[in-house]
Amino acid sequence: MKLLVISGSQRQGSFNLRLAHVAGGMARDRGAEVQAFDLRALNLPVYDGDLEAAQGVPASARTLHAALASSDALLLVTPEYNGFPTPLVINAFDWLSRLPAGEGLPAALSTTTNKPVALLSASPGALGGLRSMNLLRQYLQMNFQMLVLPQQNALSRAGEAFDDAGALKDPKTAAAVAGVVDALLSAAGRLGR
Ligand SMILES: Cc1cc2nc3c(=O)[nH]c(=O)nc-3n(C[C@H](O)[C@H](O)[C@H](O)COP(=O)(O)O)c2cc1C
Repeated sequence: MKLLVISGSQRQGSFNLRLAHVAGGMARDRGAEVQAFDLRALNLPVYDGDLEAAQGVPASARTLHAALASSDALLLVTPEYNGFPTPLVINAFDWLSRLPAGEGLPAALSTTTNKPVALLSASPGALGGLRSMNLLRQYLQMNFQMLVLPQQNALSRAGEAFDDAGALKDPKTAAAVAGVVDALLSAAGRLGR
């Protein structure tokens, strides 16, 4: 079972990146092969139709495509900005959606269709990024035909949630995150991925 873990944070010291590490570790403990994917490292420009017309889709978008293609499931751990998923996530998937078609399907859909994805978020605030999750769910389902799991977790008060070693302090919170990881791996297993 190959699990791709993506953080949508746009800063070092990210709470979401910490949560992604915790969840990725849980998946590893359950036997999954985990690939942590750095969206920022792609250095994708903000989507620009003129740039696309002149130069095509940036080559680094294909790195994301390849990572998705070689994974059985995706865990997306992202903050919200003003109640929306971060531009980093949306921009990367927007570029992905512009990859040229092949084998009867748009290239993006060939790697995302029926791929299970689970959502986690973290925020110093009281809602933990919850408001953006429905939007992200809709975006991934409607445009990328992904199977977004009903199980999700929004980690609130993230500034106090981790110990010095990066682990979640509260066992109930850790169990809730583990529940999402379990649901994702189980769904991917049932789909024969
Ligand atoms: C432009 C902007 C908008 C934000 N909007 C929200 C918000 O709607 N809800 C929320 O809980 N936190 C919001 N925050 C605070 C983020 O949750 C906080 O910066 C968090 O640390 C980002 O996640 P990270 O630590 O993984 O980078 C916002 C932060 C920025 C920079």
